[in-house]
Amino acid sequence: MENQTEKKKIVFSAIQPSGTITLGNYLGALKNWVKMQDEFNCIFALADLHTITVRQEPAAFRKNICEAYASLLACGIDPEKSPFFIQSHVTTHAQLAWVLNCYTQFGELSRMTQFKDKSAKHADNVNAGLFTYPTLMAADILLYQADMVPVGADQKQHLELARNIAERFNGIYSPTFKVPDPYIAKSGARVMSLQDPLKKMSKSDENANSFVTLLDKPDGIMKKFKRAVTDSEARVAYGEGKDGINNLMSIYATITGKTYEQIEQEFDGKGYGDFKTAVGEAVVEELRPVQERFERYVADKAYMQECYKKSADFAQKLSQRTLDKAMKKIGFVLR
Ligand code: TYM
Repeated sequence: MENQTEKKKIVFSAIQPSGTITLGNYLGALKNWVKMQDEFNCIFALADLHTITVRQEPAAFRKNICEAYASLLACGIDPEKSPFFIQSHVTTHAQLAWVLNCYTQFGELSRMTQFKDKSAKHADNVNAGLFTYPTLMAADILLYQADMVPVGADQKQHLELARNIAERFNGIYSPTFKVPDPYIAKSGARVMSLQDPLKKMSKSDENANSFVTLLDKPDGIMKKFKRAVTDSEARVAYGEGKDGINNLMSIYATITGKTYEQIEQEFDGKGYGDFKTAVGEAVVEELRPVQERFERYVADKAYMQECYKKSADFAQKLSQRTLDKAMKKIGFVLR
């Protein structure tokens, strides 16, 4: 928080505490967040208000929030540099979300593919929150005047909507919100299921072999990679129709920093067995220090509390400025 200077660009992003964090979340988002901390003024959040769009069991929800907070610290998010708060602790998010709902069209929200997917999946609970979820996400971002939002490819459509809402509001009144750019890394932005490489890796998948979590034990990780679906060509090369291998290559490349050509050379003449073992080992080694740190953080509730409290105080103050500015332009009488 000390080096939140005026000159650096502002980065905002958030993750839902909706269960264990996957390798997809890690490679698509979290690894980039950690890297961006020195170069930018980063602000991060646990989007717990978003999570109740799907019904949560209270005790499990509470545990997931604590574990997600500890997991992000373990990944290397440093709240001293980058305020990292819990969304429900900062009142401006729900407030601006309501306001933005009135500047967002029913038709726009109806076109969101995640809404269509989730309402098909939870057909018994297609609540209004699930529908207006993207306006809350827009509020999260716009409150901090973020220049850049590091996300996986699946959030691109929500980011475009946030940009449209900002532009619309600025157009009606006068420049109020910074129009944010998505930051989607070339590598790792779309980690696919290990069992069905045409589907994205997701913690809500019924088949636990399809995803790796941040806290999976080494032998479990190795087993999941050994079982990963590939093809019958037995050649480690990136190409059309080789979705399983493409996915494993992308995971390996994101972790090791190697190019696809280098990976093809490394495994020239070797079978898929060797390749899967190498990818599994790379993931195990990448996650080993994260898992060790997780154990320490999750046991230190007092430290976590201090971090999220300080971060929320900072975020509340900063975001209130934007909220007040927007409300004033609309014509509200400020208290
Ligand atoms: P969430 O919690 O589903 O995911 C957190 C981040 O992980 C990325 N991600 C993936 N990246 C690559 N491959 C995958 N298989 C994969 N699965 C998930 C997501 O793109 C995301 O970056 N609505 C958001 C949370 C949110 C938010 C925000 C994000 C709330 N407010 C404001 C940015 C800005 C979500 O549900 O992410």
